[in-house]
Amino acid sequence: MNITVRVWRQKSTHHKGSMVTYHVEDVSPDMSFLEMLDALNERLTLEGADPIAFDSDCREGICGTCGLVINGIAHGPKPLITTCQLHMRSFNDGDVIDVEPWRAEPFAVVKDLVVDRGAFDRIIQAGGFISAPTGAAPDAHAVPVPKAHADAAFDAATCIGCGACVAACPNGSAALFLGAKITHLGLLPQGQPERDSRALAMIEQHDAEGFGGCTQIGECTAVCPKDIQLDVISRYHRDVLAAMVHRDT
Ligand code: SF4
Ligand code: FES
Repeated sequence: MNITVRVWRQKSTHHKGSMVTYHVEDVSPDMSFLEMLDALNERLTLEGADPIAFDSDCREGICGTCGLVINGIAHGPKPLITTCQLHMRSFNDGDVIDVEPWRAEPFAVVKDLVVDRGAFDRIIQAGGFISAPTGAAPDAHAVPVPKAHADAAFDAATCIGCGACVAACPNGSAALFLGAKITHLGLLPQGQPERDSRALAMIEQHDAEGFGGCTQIGECTAVCPKDIQLDVISRYHRDVLAAMVHRDT
């Protein structure tokens, strides 16, 4: 296939960016989207031009580092996959494809398509952990967990922190990410001692980072590669309210 990509190029956080057009020839439908960008970068390097900066690590939908807005959709046109799992067979010969970074105030563009998602790390640092006593490992199944809670906690724990939910949200809210992180620990017995402080600290950090509020639009779930559902947002709202009542009484 021969395609045209219009890519956001930006030298650094403090430079202005713009879309730059590249024609890419002999693209195999079996290439991943990132391999297509690799091939383009090889050509740019051989031409002495600056290759396009973009993030990736595992390239199999696990690490959450890749993330591009492709034709206006976070992670591209196929639901339930990350950018690295998208293949060129999802496009047609002659297509013009727009490629942009996540756009949200707390995710500053570092260069081209790379954004700084350190805000997510700081939200996790604020409360996304449990305190475990040291000593011998406890016996397996010493702490019973109801099956429904274990399943819901596991579903929430599949969030890979990619940030697509923020990129898609018209409010720039990280509520789906926050809900997933608060839910997966708050549903387990091991997460109970810090349940209140976790909810309050994480929402406080979320707001301090400049993410917007959730108005239940649902764009986040539509682009989430791990199918995190809106119920995690209801759960964290309940946890935050309960924590405020406990704190104030
Ligand atoms: S909730 Fe989904 S879209 Fe948001 S960071 Fe987690 S995996 Fe990515
Ligand atoms: S590179 Fe790891 S999820 Fe895409």
